[in-house]
Amino acid sequence: MNQIPVMIDCDPGIDDAMMLTLAFAREELNVLLVTTEAGNLTIDKTTYNTLSFLTHINKRVEVAKGLPQPLLRKQEVAENIHGESGLGNVTWSEPTMEASARPAIVAMYDTLINAAEPVTIVATGPLTNIAALLVAHPEVKPCIKQISWMGGAVVGGNMSATAEFNAYVDPHAAELVMRSGVPIIMSGLDVTHKAYITRDEMTRLRTLGTPFAEKVADMMQFYTFTQRQTPFHAPGFAEQIRIHDVSAIACLIAPHIYDGDDYFVEVELEGRLTQGATIVDYTKQSGNEPNVYVLHSVNRAAFIELFFDAVTTIGKTL
Ligand code: RIB
Ligand code: CA
Repeated sequence: MNQIPVMIDCDPGIDDAMMLTLAFAREELNVLLVTTEAGNLTIDKTTYNTLSFLTHINKRVEVAKGLPQPLLRKQEVAENIHGESGLGNVTWSEPTMEASARPAIVAMYDTLINAAEPVTIVATGPLTNIAALLVAHPEVKPCIKQISWMGGAVVGGNMSATAEFNAYVDPHAAELVMRSGVPIIMSGLDVTHKAYITRDEMTRLRTLGTPFAEKVADMMQFYTFTQRQTPFHAPGFAEQIRIHDVSAIACLIAPHIYDGDDYFVEVELEGRLTQGATIVDYTKQSGNEPNVYVLHSVNRAAFIELFFDAVTTIGKTL
């Protein structure tokens, strides 16, 4: 099988951990490197969580620590959603591997220039590391096949009425990446709000019969409670747990279950009320060439089966 070479930049984070579960369960992907972001939590916590979770699922890959804060904005975290540890109230394994001696940007640069073919970058946090890489080393752009980013939204937000968390935390990084000329697939809230797991499906997780599936269900239960506390209640919101980051991987493994369109996207940097909003030219009136493939719909049943298969696969290997 021709594997897709990927590098993953993440901020675990409950849904980041579920994204890693899918990434490492599938033979279609060859994960060359994992880098950590300051996002859901501080960089030390997201790095520890990445090492802990990968140790737990027995996956050994270089984990390189990213930049400690956004390019310009004050750091904001999401412990209210992911818990004080960042992985809910579930304890995963004590890490048996250490973070790489190389910082994320060096590890990303070396991985890209030495890769046999262009690499897909999967980004499920703020885009700080990737923006810094592209500013420091624009020469690596031809080595990047595409960036699959969970972030942004055509309509709405979850950190404000107009901005999604990953774009809101570091809007300057997001804008630098939108302008980079590197092909981007954006799994924004428009599609991730349709890629949810229901309470009944969470109960079904426990029937998979492995300790791993049980822990995933426990973590989902925590996520259900905290997501319900957020102010943006849509009808049935509490019954639909959005595992946002999983789509950034699922759209690479099963592009046929998603649909989207090419749009020009830029990020609001100055707005007093709109900072971090991803402005998607969905009327195609701006006269600007599209720079992002924005996903807007997903076959949720197929998405959930991908997720369950991944939890089953990983659970059986432990
Ligand atoms: O808005 C959802 C995104 O913000 C996800 O990546 C989640 O992990 C948080 O980082
Ligand atoms: Ca994330």
